[in-house]
Amino acid sequence: ASSPVTVTVTGAAGQIGYALLFRIASGQLLGPDTPVRLRLLEIPQAVKAAEGTAMELDDCAFTTLDSVEIYDDATAAFDGVNVALLVGARPRTAGMERGDLLSANGGIFKPQGAAINAGAADDVRVLVVGNPANTNAFIAASHAPDVPRERFTAMTRLDHNRAVSQLATKTGAKVGDIAKLTIWGNHSATQYPDLSHATVGGRPALEVVGDDTWVRDTFIPTVAKRGAAIIEARGASSAASAANAAIDHVHTWVHGTPAGDWTSAGIVSDGSYGVPEGLISSFPVTSVDGRWQIVPDLSVDEFSRSRIDASVAELVEERDAVQALGLL
Ligand code: NAI
Repeated sequence: ASSPVTVTVTGAAGQIGYALLFRIASGQLLGPDTPVRLRLLEIPQAVKAAEGTAMELDDCAFTTLDSVEIYDDATAAFDGVNVALLVGARPRTAGMERGDLLSANGGIFKPQGAAINAGAADDVRVLVVGNPANTNAFIAASHAPDVPRERFTAMTRLDHNRAVSQLATKTGAKVGDIAKLTIWGNHSATQYPDLSHATVGGRPALEVVGDDTWVRDTFIPTVAKRGAAIIEARGASSAASAANAAIDHVHTWVHGTPAGDWTSAGIVSDGSYGVPEGLISSFPVTSVDGRWQIVPDLSVDEFSRSRIDASVAELVEERDAVQALGLL
C-alpha cells in the first residue's frame, strides 16, 4: 500500500457529506490500495454532528481509512491537504438576492482559498461542489495565488451523469454505450448539455434519437432542471447522486478518462471555444497524467454556440458581481 493521502471535506455534517465520507473512506475515491487520512471541516455548531459521523466511520472498520480528524478552522483542516472537497456552502434562502448569496459564499470560499494557499500539499486538487460552484471555485482560486489555477475545479459531473442517464433511457441503450457527451458552461439552469458529438453504441446520438424537438424541448431542460425535480420528489436536494459525482470527478482526475471518451468538468478556461480565459467553465475534458485537458477542435454549430454563449455570459456576470463586491 502507498502512503496515506489527506482528503479534506468541508460541510462534512451536511447531507452530501454523509453520502460522501463513507465512500471516500472505503477506497472508492482513490482506489483500494491508498489509505485515506480524512479531515472533516465544519462550522462550530455542526462539529458535534460531524463527531457522530466520525464515530460511524470508525464503526465501519474500513481498512483504507488511516484516520479521521474534525476541524472548525480552515487553516488547520487544509494543512498538507492533497484532495480538498469543498462541499459546505451557504444555500439560497427565500428572498435572498444574488448579491447576498455571492457575499455569503465569498465569506466562505475566500478564507478557504487562502488556507489552501497557505498549507496545501504541492499536488493539491480542489473540487468545489457547494453552489454557486463555478464562481465559488473562482473566488477560492483567486485567493490561492501560489497554487496553479488549474487545480481549482467545479463539479458538473452530476449534470453529465444525469445527461448520460437521460440519453440511455431515451434510446434504450446501456449507460456504458453512451460516450462523448458534454456539459458546457455554468452549473446552473443555463448549462448546456450537448449531444452534438455524443455517440450511442458508436453511432451519432442525434441520429439514433432522430428527434431534434426532444433534444431541445425535453432533454436539455430535463437535465438542467433535474435538481429542482429531485427536491420536488424527495423533499430534499440531491445528495447521494451529488456525492457519487464528486467521487467520479476526482477518480477520473487521478486515474484518467477511458480511451475514446471524455467527461465534463468545470475547469479554468484557456480561452478555448470562446470562453474568456480564467473563467471556471464546464468543458468536454479528458484527464491525462493527472491533468485535465480540454478536448480540442470540436465543431460548434449555431445552436450550440448560442447556448454556450448564454451560459458563459452568466459566468461573466457572476465574476463581475463578485469583483464589484470586493470578493476577489
Ligand atoms: P447541507 O446544508 O446539508 O450541508 C452543508 C453543510 O455545510 C452544513 O453541515 C453546514 O454546516 C456546512 N458549512 C456551511 N458553511 C461552512 C463552512 N464555512 N465551512 C465548513 N462547513 C460549512 O447541504 P448539502 O445538501 O450537503 O449541499 C451542499 C452544497 O452542495 C450546497 O451548496 C448545494 O447547493 C451543493 N450542490 C451542488 C451540486 C453540484 O452538482 N455541483 C449538486 C448538489 C448540491
